[in-house]
Amino acid sequence: MDIVLSGIRPTGNLHLGNYFGAVKNFVKMQHENNAFFFIADYHSLTTHPTPADLHGNVKQVLSEYLACGLDPEVATIYIQSDLPEIAELYLLLNMNAYLGELERTTSFKDKVRKQANNVNAGLLTYPVLMAADILIHKSKYVPVGKDQEQNLEMARKFAKRFNNMYSVDYFNEPIPFNFGNDLIKIPGLDGSGKMGKSEGNGLYLIDDEKTIKKKVMKAKTDAGPTQQNQEMPQEIINLFTIADIVSEKDTVDFFKTNYNNCSIRYGDFKKQLAEDINNFVSPIREKIIDIRSNEEYLSKVAKMGAEKARESAAKTVKEVREIIGFKSF
Ligand code: TRP
Repeated sequence: MDIVLSGIRPTGNLHLGNYFGAVKNFVKMQHENNAFFFIADYHSLTTHPTPADLHGNVKQVLSEYLACGLDPEVATIYIQSDLPEIAELYLLLNMNAYLGELERTTSFKDKVRKQANNVNAGLLTYPVLMAADILIHKSKYVPVGKDQEQNLEMARKFAKRFNNMYSVDYFNEPIPFNFGNDLIKIPGLDGSGKMGKSEGNGLYLIDDEKTIKKKVMKAKTDAGPTQQNQEMPQEIINLFTIADIVSEKDTVDFFKTNYNNCSIRYGDFKKQLAEDINNFVSPIREKIIDIRSNEEYLSKVAKMGAEKARESAAKTVKEVREIIGFKSF
């Protein structure tokens, strides 16, 4: 079985875009591969969270992924900071990562612009830490979105560089994994093409019925069709895209027909859509709340994952130390 790995930043809650874009595919992947999923809490330190926020976020994100179906009995699910081996590999890889190439990455340049008063070394070496995450288990595939492709390219570079430097064929080059046709893009409710946290247009898995209704009723719509079979504006296509996922086919057909003969009432459509979204989300929401309140279970999952992950991480670090030339006295 191939080793597949993905890291999840512990910031914010999962929205429908995350769910259909990544999480659902992770859940599927865990059964077909030797899957490692971890919460990247070392990475989150670049923005200096408070200790309470840090721990709370890790637990929340862990609860949400478990509620979506990541199974600790199937995949290795762990918290990055439970593996000091990652920090060690990061240190070792840093010796072969160059200032120029790190400064040139788009995500670093982006961060320099966005948080000019906190350009710390952790931000600069973010791709090195990410390479350590990936190489520590000799991962073959890494499912990533477009925004992470450059980081993956760096991981490949560091793997190759290590092999060349020590004339070994030790690290394989991790391959970005694109879900292709399985990737469903969820649009925003504001007429934009993409649902996102920073866009502020997200429907979250933990949103309650009232919140969902409020957000959907406020969704952008136009003045309505005036001609038979008129082309839909983007914001209406977006609502139908979401309906296609959460509503019964008959319901979608009903409102489409009404759109085409100009009798659609957006208020009714939105009310139905809000109800269908809630029906979809509510079992997941209940599971999140249930798991989040079960500290004992969360702790068991984290311990089990750490134990499994450390086994493979310790082996890699031991071998890397030998290759580099560290010898014990
Ligand atoms: N940088 C990734 C993100 O922002 C999270 C991440 C950290 C990651 N380490 C990783 C993803 C290793 C894949 C593999 O989403």
